[in-house]
Amino acid sequence: MSTKVTEEINNRLNIVDIVGNYVTLKRNGSKYTGLCPFHNEKTPSFTVTPEKNLFYCFGCHKGGSIFNFIMEIENMDFQDALRFLAKKAGVELDDNYSGSSTERKKIDALKELYKRTANSFQYILKNRPEAEEARTYLVKRGVSPEILDLFKLGWAPEDRNWLLAFLKSKGYSDGFLMESGLFSKKGLRYPLFSGRVMFPITNYNGEVIAFSGRTLKDFGPKYINSPETILFQKKRNLFGLSNASKSIREKDFFILCEGQMDVIACHQAGIKNAVAPLGTAYTEEQANILKRYSSHSVISFDGDSAGKKAAAKAIIINEKKDIKSQVAVLGENEDPADLLINKGEKELNKKLKSTINSFDYILENAVNLSDITNPEGKEEVINNLVEYLNSLTSEVRRDDCINMVASRLGVDSASVYKDIKREVSLNKAYRQKKEDNQIKQNAGSEFDRKMSAELFLMIAVVVNRDRFNFVRGKINIEDLFDQRARAIYIALEECFRNNENSIDSLLNRIEGQDLISLIAEKITSEEFSINTEELIRDSVKKIKRSSLLKKREDIVKKLRDMTRLNAEDFNETELLSEKIYIDQEIEKLRLGI
Ligand code: CTP
Ligand code: MN
Repeated sequence: MSTKVTEEINNRLNIVDIVGNYVTLKRNGSKYTGLCPFHNEKTPSFTVTPEKNLFYCFGCHKGGSIFNFIMEIENMDFQDALRFLAKKAGVELDDNYSGSSTERKKIDALKELYKRTANSFQYILKNRPEAEEARTYLVKRGVSPEILDLFKLGWAPEDRNWLLAFLKSKGYSDGFLMESGLFSKKGLRYPLFSGRVMFPITNYNGEVIAFSGRTLKDFGPKYINSPETILFQKKRNLFGLSNASKSIREKDFFILCEGQMDVIACHQAGIKNAVAPLGTAYTEEQANILKRYSSHSVISFDGDSAGKKAAAKAIIINEKKDIKSQVAVLGENEDPADLLINKGEKELNKKLKSTINSFDYILENAVNLSDITNPEGKEEVINNLVEYLNSLTSEVRRDDCINMVASRLGVDSASVYKDIKREVSLNKAYRQKKEDNQIKQNAGSEFDRKMSAELFLMIAVVVNRDRFNFVRGKINIEDLFDQRARAIYIALEECFRNNENSIDSLLNRIEGQDLISLIAEKITSEEFSINTEELIRDSVKKIKRSSLLKKREDIVKKLRDMTRLNAEDFNETELLSEKIYIDQEIEKLRLGI
C-alpha cells in the first residue's frame, strides 16, 4: 500500500479537529485534554498532542495516530479508516491499492467469500425448486420480493456437501475455509448452515460479515448464528444497521427490535429505522454505534416477561450512553413480525408510534412485580429501580424520578431518597472497582509494558526521527533482542527508505494496538524530550556492548564445547579470530572511538 497517501492525509488533517468531532477538548499548554471516549471517567486523562498528531489516554492506556483513533471509535478496519480520513482530507485513493499486512488481506478475502456465499444462497432461494418451501414460508411471513432483495435473504441447501463443493470450485483452500466461520470445528464436512433460510448480517457499510439461519422445522435450534471471526463480533454489530442508518439520521431515532424478522417486518411496513441485536442481549458497544446516528430510541420488544426484562436492560444501557428511550407496548405474545401478519402495516405503524416514556415504563414494571401494599414490597420496588436510577447521568432527572417513585409508593420522598442514595453510592463504588480492574487487566494482559533498554532507545528515536540515520549506522536488527524494539526498528527502517517522516506512517507499519499505545504514551508524556542526543548516544553504546558481549559469550561457549567433545570439523582459528575481533570492538566502544 502506498503509505505516501497516509503521509498526505497526515499533512492535511489536524488531529484536534478530527478528535474534536467526538470529544470536547480543552487547550492545555501545547496539548489538548478531554474526557476519554473509550472508558468512563470524570476527570480528563485523554490527551491530544497536535504537534505529533497523536492521542493517548493515561487512564485506559489507549493511544495512537488519527488512524488508530478512527478505527477504534468508528469500529472500522484500517482500510475503512483510511477511506474515511482520505475523504475528509480530500485525498484521492488509488482504486487498486491493497492492504499490506496479512490480516488486512485476510479480512478482504473473507468479505469476498461472504459476498459470494450470500449471493449464491440468494440465487438458490429465488430459482431452485428445492427452495419452494422457503419461498412459500417467506411469503406467508409477509416478505415482499423487494424486501427479500434488500436484505439479501437466501436459502442454504439441505445437501451438506453443496457449500464445500461450491467454495472449492472457487479455489479456496481448506485452511482458509476452516477459519471462515461457515463450517463446524469438526471439519469441512459439517457446514453450519443447511436447510435454513439465510439472513446475511452486514456491517454498517452493507458488507456481509456473517449469517443467521432459520430452520423451517419444528425441532432443533430455531436460529443458528455465525461464530465470531476477525470480521464479525456479535456485540459490535446490529442486524439491519446498513439498511436503517439513513432513516435513523433523518428521523432522528432508532427502533430497537428483538429479532431480525421484526426488523424485516418494520421495513415491510415502511418503517426503515429499525435494527436488532444479534441473538444476544443489547450491548453498550451497540449503543455506542447507534449513538453516532441518533440519541433517541424506541424499544419494541415482546410483551412477555423476558421481553420486559430485556427492555428494562436496554433502557439502562441507553441511559448510560445518554440515549433517550421510549417504549412501544406490545401484547403479551406479540412482536412486530406477528403484528404485521395478524393486524397489518397500519396497526404496526400505530403501535410503534404510541409509546410511553421509559421511566413510566420501568416504574410500572417494577410496581407490577411486587405487592406495594406492604413495606417489603415497597422495598423490593426500590431495589429493582436502583440500577436504572444509577444509570441516570443527570442529577436533576434522578431527583425528579426519585420524587415520582416516592409518590407512586405513597411514602416520604426524603427517606426514599436516602435509601436510594445509599444504594446508588454502593453501586457506583462497585462499578468503579470493576472498571478499574478491567483497565488493569487490559493493560497487563500478555503485553509487557515494562521498558527494556532497547525499547527505550527505539522510542527515543521515534520521538527524534532525525537520529535514526545515526542509530542505523551503529546498530543492526540483530543487535536487538526485545521483539517490540525489533518491530519499531523495522518500521523505522521502512519509513527511512521511503522517506516518510510522520508518526502516522510509522504507527501504520506497526502491528498490535498495545505497542502503538505504548509509543503514544511515551511520546505524550515527553519523557524523551530532554537531552535526547546524549541519551541516544549512551543507549546505542550500551546496547551495542551488550550485544557484543552476548556474541562473545556464544563463541566462548562453542570453543569450550567443541574442545570437550573433541569435535572433528571444528575450525578453532576462525572462532578465535572472531573472538579477537569482538574484543577489539568492545575495547573501541569503551574508549569511545
Ligand atoms: N435467536 C437466536 N437463536 C435462537 C432463538 C433466537 O439467535 N435459538 C435470536 C434471533 O436473532 C431472533 C431473536 O433471537 O431473531 C429473537 O428470538 P425469538 O423471539 O425467539 O424469535 P423471533 O424473532 O420471534 O423469530 P421468528 O419470528 O422467526 O419465529
Ligand atoms: Mn417472531
